[in-house]
Amino acid sequence: MIKPFNLVILLSGAGSNALNLIGHFHDKTYFDKHTFVSKVISNNPDAKGLLKAQSKGVKTAILNHKDFIRREDFDSVLANLVLESSPNLILLAGFMRVLSEAFLSRIKVPILNIHPSLLPLHKGAHAIEDSFKDASQFGGVSVHYVTKELDSGAILVQEKIPKASNIKDYEKDIHDLEYKLYVEAVLKVLKGS
Ligand code: GAR
Repeated sequence: MIKPFNLVILLSGAGSNALNLIGHFHDKTYFDKHTFVSKVISNNPDAKGLLKAQSKGVKTAILNHKDFIRREDFDSVLANLVLESSPNLILLAGFMRVLSEAFLSRIKVPILNIHPSLLPLHKGAHAIEDSFKDASQFGGVSVHYVTKELDSGAILVQEKIPKASNIKDYEKDIHDLEYKLYVEAVLKVLKGS
């Protein structure tokens, strides 16, 4: 029997990972699951990712963190918004906020994040630049379970690539790897669920 598998995506910016995930998993079937993206939520009202999701017919919502004084209050309302959609899996795709217990304690399904470095190296918002500048010949991408610590939590998939000679090419290589790896990570969860 084909079972529904409902994904919610959180983003803050360009949304290229979200678009890629929607392309792979919206209205598709894997194993015995019919996957669909029920909602894309952004904390940034100007996020280009919202328009990308809408162009694929996916519902969007905005919850601006600037409307809240306390992080916990934002996180609690965000949890309500996510739970309204009853997802089986939550995917952070360039969602540039740390989630506190006010969110995490309410959510009983897996939450994944993608990060453009070989975690635990180069956490934070400038991982591509930081990893390009370090002494290693390799950079990479990690997909991990989300905890209340920034870019931490058990790693689900990770892959390294040799660094291109300039940051522009390196950035493109990293994004291409992200698109491949996030799909692999979701397939892993789907297979095990
Ligand atoms: C991606 O590179 C993602 O890995 C990174 O933000 C970018 C979002 O791009 N996330 C983090 O750095 C999380 N700490 P996108 O909006 O085009 O998907």
